[in-house]
Amino acid sequence: MEPTSELLLDVRHLSKTFPLKKSKTNKAPSFKAVDDVSFQVFKGETLGIVGESGSGKSTVAKMILQLLEPTNGEIYFLGQNLANQSKATKRRMQAVFQDPYASLNPRMRAKEIVTEPLILHKQLNKKNRDDKALELLHEVGLSEQHLNRFPHEFSGGQRQRLSIARAIALKPDLIICDEAVSALDVSIQAQILKLLKSLQTSYGLSYIFIAHGLPTVKQLSNRVAIMHKGKIVEIGETNDIFQSPKHTYTKSLLKAVPPSHPRDRHKPSIGG
Ligand SMILES: Nc1ncnc2c1ncn2[C@@H]1O[C@H](COP(=O)(O)OP(=O)(O)OP(=O)(O)O)[C@@H](O)[C@H]1O
Ligand SMILES: [Mg+2]
Repeated sequence: MEPTSELLLDVRHLSKTFPLKKSKTNKAPSFKAVDDVSFQVFKGETLGIVGESGSGKSTVAKMILQLLEPTNGEIYFLGQNLANQSKATKRRMQAVFQDPYASLNPRMRAKEIVTEPLILHKQLNKKNRDDKALELLHEVGLSEQHLNRFPHEFSGGQRQRLSIARAIALKPDLIICDEAVSALDVSIQAQILKLLKSLQTSYGLSYIFIAHGLPTVKQLSNRVAIMHKGKIVEIGETNDIFQSPKHTYTKSLLKAVPPSHPRDRHKPSIGG
């Protein structure tokens, strides 16, 4: 699906300041993790966000997901200020994180994991659980044999498929993928990216796709935002960013050769 001109998410002058430990010389120290960040995401679009560790990417994601309160700025979702919204808009935004171990309940079976959001939102009763669970597992390339398995009984790639099935259960408008493929082998990454792309078409989804490196976001992103020290230093069409980067930091990101194996990256691999 091609991005449309329908505005989905409008992030305006977003900032987040974290308090730091007091010292003798500084009674109210603080750290600005996100500094006046603005961007928009349109329906059907994928916006990549790239930047080194600590640049503020996840902090932006958490504020959009309402897991963290902004220090300054506003987030508009379908024209509504999130600060004034009830939980109803929450289901329209979902997330897939790097480590499914941290986000999937280890004591729940696959069928419970993927249908729990529907039951919590009273869109499904437990009687129909297996049918719906199987439908969702099929959507992400898993099958009937996986219905009763626990998270630890899946491979890393399959576990990420499970997270994606749970994320699409409520038919959201936006999914934030925060390093969703970063811990996986390159070949498994490619499969997950392909799955995300096909779900985007069938569900009309928008994505915010967060990663350390430009190569990871290139395939999926219509536009890319480059974050550095809490700020967006450059944002533009993916091709423009790759062919004529304006900011020195973007140029340095393009020169950096990514390590070829997840094992060589700074975050531990959880296997394929
Ligand atoms: N709850 C918190 N309290 C204090 N500082 C925090 C908190 N959360 C994040 N930070 C700091 O804010 C900065 C940005 O963190 P964030 O997690 O957004 O970076 P990131 O770009 O997602 O990095 P990574 O690529 O490693 O995931 C970091 O310096 C981090 O230490
Ligand atoms: Mg992060």
